[in-house]
Amino acid sequence: MKIYQAKDYNDMSRKAANIISAQIIMKPDCVLGLATGSTPVGTYKQLVDWYQKGDLDFSKVKTANLDEYKGLSKDNSQSYYYFMQEHLFKHVNIKEKNTHIPDGTETDAEKAAEDYEAIISGLGGVDLQLLGIGHNGHIGFNEPSDIYPKDTHVVDLQESTIEANKRFFDSIDEVPRQAYTMGIGTIMRARKILLLVSGAEKADILYESICGPVTPSVPASILQLHPDVIIVADEAALSKMGIS
Ligand code: F6R
Repeated sequence: MKIYQAKDYNDMSRKAANIISAQIIMKPDCVLGLATGSTPVGTYKQLVDWYQKGDLDFSKVKTANLDEYKGLSKDNSQSYYYFMQEHLFKHVNIKEKNTHIPDGTETDAEKAAEDYEAIISGLGGVDLQLLGIGHNGHIGFNEPSDIYPKDTHVVDLQESTIEANKRFFDSIDEVPRQAYTMGIGTIMRARKILLLVSGAEKADILYESICGPVTPSVPASILQLHPDVIIVADEAALSKMGIS
């Protein structure tokens, strides 16, 4: 595991975008595992900027997103499909057919999960998986639990996650109660993982994830067992690690 300290959110975003750019330059047809939420927004903005300057080419890049709310269609402005269009896909030359997100409108959860695992296997697996972390240590929507869910599956979102995500909706009642997410196994099968963490409010959970025991009650702690993890975190997020 390598930890890179960034000064602040913008510096974290630039460093992360540099790592993703390097991946695209070294393997133009790479498979990127992508995340939504507020953490990667600055990273996507930087990638769009470099694309517009002619420094990046997404024409062969393939993507597979971590998760999607169950019940939200692509045109719902709170869906992760919509998020990805707004923050990255519509601004770069990625091909729509090369982008993949779990199908939130599939009501058969088993089918949705199996289809998505088949898509990821068909792509040859993920080269670089981008992750954020929830305040409870979730990665994707893998919430604290007694076990590590292996593959893509449907989850009941925890109250704390619904509470954290209500900022994106008009009211808390509109936040979906379920989501499809890559499993911990799906995430751990990525060849490289890039975890981004920003802000003092993530300092405790980052410390617990990296320095505490590996336990499904802190899902991100599993990353300690992955052979190729890069963490880019800002000073505030690293403040409990005693390394600054
Ligand atoms: C998003 C995802 C989540 C977020 C996490 C952090 O696709 O899978 O695990 O990465 O909830 O969210 P933010 O970045 O909004 O703090």
